[in-house]
Amino acid sequence: MAAGVTTKVALAGFRRMLGADAVLTDPEVTAPYLTDHRKLYEGTALAVLRPGSVGEVSELLAFCNGTGIGVVPQGGNTGYCGGATPDDSGRQVVLSLARLARLRRIDAANYSMVAEAGCILANLQREAEAADRFFPLSLGSEGSCQIGGNLSTNAGGLNVLRYGMTRELVLGLEVVLADGRVLSTLGELRKDNTGYDLKSLFIGAEGTLGVITAASLKLLPRPRAIATAFVAVRGVAAAVDLLGLLREASGDRVSSFELIPHVAVDLTIRHVPGIAQPLAGEYPWYVLCELSSARTADALDGMLEDALRDAMDGGLLDDAALAQNERQRAAFWRLRESIPEAQRIEGPSLKHDVALPIGKLPRFVEEAAAWIAAHVPDAVLVAYGHVGDGNLHFNVNARAGADPLRFVARADEVQRVVHDLVASFGGSVSAEHGIGRLKVDELARYAPPVELELMRAVKRAFDPNGIMNPGKVLKTQ
Ligand code: FAD
Ligand code: MLT
Ligand code: ZN
Repeated sequence: MAAGVTTKVALAGFRRMLGADAVLTDPEVTAPYLTDHRKLYEGTALAVLRPGSVGEVSELLAFCNGTGIGVVPQGGNTGYCGGATPDDSGRQVVLSLARLARLRRIDAANYSMVAEAGCILANLQREAEAADRFFPLSLGSEGSCQIGGNLSTNAGGLNVLRYGMTRELVLGLEVVLADGRVLSTLGELRKDNTGYDLKSLFIGAEGTLGVITAASLKLLPRPRAIATAFVAVRGVAAAVDLLGLLREASGDRVSSFELIPHVAVDLTIRHVPGIAQPLAGEYPWYVLCELSSARTADALDGMLEDALRDAMDGGLLDDAALAQNERQRAAFWRLRESIPEAQRIEGPSLKHDVALPIGKLPRFVEEAAAWIAAHVPDAVLVAYGHVGDGNLHFNVNARAGADPLRFVARADEVQRVVHDLVASFGGSVSAEHGIGRLKVDELARYAPPVELELMRAVKRAFDPNGIMNPGKVLKTQ
């Protein structure tokens, strides 16, 4: 029984609003919606609801608000922090945005498009390309995550260095508020200084303030010249120096700069078919870097080659392979994007999605790696990620043969040490994956009290009955 209404009445209400086919209750059908990608959480729900229009979302939220039913928005369910999974009270519904998947319009002249929340990210990239434009958001999960989920987590990914996080790609949003009212800021303006920037509050709110139903998004000129290299660097400090060198030498045309340790290359080769060693020799650290330009005439290959030669002369790297064609470039990227999957197949992993000022990364890695080596002997460190953004996935995998339960039991202890160290360097304990349910206590621990107070005030203002994704991001009072 949901607070204020029986389950029977709630289900009858949902069926009346959406039609019976859009109200899922069969456990076999609902199961994939009730657990998260990492299988950290499993919940129950009154029902999984699949509205087909903004009007239906509005009607549903008004009903849930009046009856105290918690609403858990869900996109592609690829999130890493359990934000899209209901609790086990049975008093929440999962609201899937999958059927709101229409590209409403694309305006090449305005370099913008308006897409519904349920659009799969890879489809939007393709639509932009078909209009001779570029939508730069790119993540390993792009074949299944939805733009509504990307907005709600303020996703980062592989091109942040040049184009920014999801937030920076947004011109406007359409949001259904907790009480069912629709807030539309779907304008396609680049300039609009009319009061508080309300849309910004919903970006990264992980469904705790309202349901995003559509977004007006920025497009860019398509990259027409691209140069990509897989480089063996002499450590993390050398990678940081190489980034500076490349930014200078290329006139700031670096669009991706990803750090990859040898252990991650090894994992992908062992677990993902078709992945090969990118260089003849083996080295402890690599960087996958890419320069891009919207000018066909930019000779980026030569520029990258010259810069890498200078870097080699300066003792920053040992070897490098420039992608000679699109196939080779795709192979480099496939290796990088397969790391999370390879890690998952390898076994349990303690994930830490941290950000630091770039210059502090080498010392952080040195100190954190030394602690892991000394205190978690059954661990293999797989620290990789978007170093160009100061974002490292400081993941700790169980060594082959380790007892998985004993290993995972140390998660809190390891997290405390890693996060305390991150905080001491002025870093963030969630760079791009959000808070969800997983890091609620971490946010409460590391965020300044005034920030938490303001966040709670915002939550109360937008969702006074506390129906929007209860228990996520902020501790329930
Ligand atoms: P979901 O997982 O369904 O939901 C995420 C959160 O958003 C939940 O709190 C949910 O309630 C809320 N939500 C979803 N849709 C809406 C909506 N319409 N309105 C309001 N709230 C909503 N993340 C990165 O940032 N960078 C990466 O490089 C990256 N790489 C990844 C690689 C792999 C292989 C995988 C599996 C994941 C990766 N992720 C990455 C994490 C994940 O893909 C992103 O967080 C993504 O943005 C989540 O989108 P989703 O549609 O799957 O959202
Ligand atoms: C990535 O960049 O591959 C993901 O954000 C990190 C992960 O899957 O752990
Ligand atoms: Zn990432």
